[in-house]
Parts: sequence; C-alpha cells; structure tokens
Amino acid sequence: MNKRKIRHIAVMCSGGDAPGMNAAVRAAVRAGIYHGFQVTGVVRGYEGLINADFIQMDSRTVGDIIQRGGTMLKTARSERFRTPEGRKTAFENMQAYEIDAIVAIGGNGTFTGGNVFYEEYGIPFVGIPGTIDNDLFGTDFTIGYDTACNTVIDALDKIRDTADAHDRLFFIEVMGRDAGFIALNAGIAAGVEAILLPEEPTDIEVLIERLSKNAKKKKPSSMVIVAEGNTNGGAIEIAKKVNEKFKHYDTKVTIIGHLQRGGSPSCFDRVLASRLGVAAVDTLANLNKYQDIGDTDTYNANVKVMVGVEKDAIVRIPLAETFKKENRKLINPELLEIAQLLAL
Ligand code: F6P
Repeated sequence: MNKRKIRHIAVMCSGGDAPGMNAAVRAAVRAGIYHGFQVTGVVRGYEGLINADFIQMDSRTVGDIIQRGGTMLKTARSERFRTPEGRKTAFENMQAYEIDAIVAIGGNGTFTGGNVFYEEYGIPFVGIPGTIDNDLFGTDFTIGYDTACNTVIDALDKIRDTADAHDRLFFIEVMGRDAGFIALNAGIAAGVEAILLPEEPTDIEVLIERLSKNAKKKKPSSMVIVAEGNTNGGAIEIAKKVNEKFKHYDTKVTIIGHLQRGGSPSCFDRVLASRLGVAAVDTLANLNKYQDIGDTDTYNANVKVMVGVEKDAIVRIPLAETFKKENRKLINPELLEIAQLLAL
C-alpha cells in the first residue's frame, strides 16, 4: 500500500437533483474541514471534473443551504465521462489540482462512473445515495425520497378535493424511473384507490372491475396513482385504455413531473443527508488510518463504497453492489397488500 495519503477531497453532485443534496454537500464540506482536508466543490458533477470547474470550499460557502432544494454545486448527467477520453481528462485535472479522493452525491449512474474511474485510475470514491427514486440497493432510504413523497401527497390531497367536487376519476403519474417506491408510499399516505407499479403487472380488467365496484359503492371520486415505469405505459395511456370501457366516467390525468424534484428538504432528508455526508468523509479519513497501520484488507474494502443507512445504522457497501442488476431493491409486498385492503 504505497498510495498517496488523502489530503484534498472533491465533493460533487451528479445525476438528477434531489432535495437534501445541499444538506449533504454542507455536511461533507464541514466534516472535511473537521478532518483537516482541503475541500474542493466540483460544479456539475463529472462534467466539472472534465472542465476543471472547481470551487474552493470553506465552512461559510455552505452556510444557509441546508434548507434549500436543488444543489449549489449544480448537477449534470455527463455523457463525456462515459468515454475513456473524458475520464482521462478528469484524472489529469485531479492530478493538476492535487485532488486525492471524491465524495459524490447521486444515484446508479454516478456510482457506475465512480467504479470505472477507480478501476482505471485508483481514485478513492465514496458515494452518497441522493435520488428521489429510493431505488439504490444498500440503503433503506435515499436523500430526497421523503421530500418527494411529501410533495406528492400534498398534490394528491389537492387533487382529491377537486375530484370529489366533480365525481371524477383521476390518473396521477409520479416519478421513480423503473421503481415504484414513491407511488406506493405516497399512494398509501393519500388513500388512493389503486396503485400501479413497475414491479407488479397491471391487469387493466382487474383495475376496471375495482373502479366499477367503487362507483357502485358511491365513492364520490377515485384516484389511481401510476408509477412512470409501469409496463402498460404512463397515466395518459392507461387512462385512455380504462376510458374506452368506462365511458360514463369523467376522467382526468395529472402528471406531477419535476415538481417532485424541487422544494425545501424535509426534516428526515436533512438529517439523513447530514449523517451520510459525515459518514462519507469519515470513510476517507479512516483510509489514511488503515494506511498508517498497514491494514490493506480494510483499506481495499473501503476505498470505493457507498454509505447508506440500514435499520437506522450507517453502513458501507461496495460500490459495484449498488448497481448490480440482481441486487434490485424490492418493494415491500406488505405495503402493497395494505394499500389494496384499505382502498375498499
Ligand atoms: O432519477 C430521478 C428522476 O427524477 C426519475 O424519477 C426520472 O425518471 C428522471 O429522473 C427524470 O430525469 P430528467 O430530469 O433528466 O428528465
């Protein structure tokens, strides 16, 4: 183990933004300062590494951001970092600025990039799970998911008011890429009549039957939440299919869209982000200690990881485990049963 000691760390956000990213940046920067590291903020994630778009961070640069949505460092999905040339330039910039390690807040794509970068250039990498989708294996929750669910239930409550007033059937599409966590949780919390997930096949006939029963039971309105990755299509397509058989119903569609990505992070997300930001930098500080005592195995086990929270405890999981296909994070079937049982 003759690697350079970590003295200078880069902090960045990558992929889709999520409420709470700022809180994680703040935590990582301040924890870095606490450990005596020089801290550089990278603007627009991997794009910033390639462009050497760097900001010197101190504890004041991250003041007054814990409560703000978006990210002060900006974020991007970098096509150039997918290429060997892009990664080479990123590495050369890191060498020129003597940056030793990366803390990156993002999702699957971010961690896939960090893993390849480590394999090619040996740059220590700690990922912090930040995505509204909550689809990352190795953590019970990702930063931004709780806030997004709260945004969705706020929208659903409002839609219920108008749906009731007009006796309407609403199809509401929510984000999540190919994961149904937002749909399932927000759906239960808002008491919707049906939840259509990417993880479960949707039988339109069964849905129609359920909606007909509701109509007979004189339910004044019905709300069906559709996760964007549903195999039958989005809310518009599904509403069309249902409407063909259900002509008498006044049907409306709402796509909540990017509203779900913005807004002030919830208390839960701010605390989660603060814990994970500190844990990420602790991981890097510990690498120096493992080097001092010559503990190569522990060093290697921690040099490219994602920090997460499982059963309220901080965990570290090898980066490659987070995006393996067979490690898909599963929805809780009990929640789905509860949703169906309560939608009587
Ligand atoms: O991963 C977060 C997410 O909001 C997904 O839920 C959604 O599918 C995607 O990003 C949208 O990406 P974009 O903002 O690039 O349209």
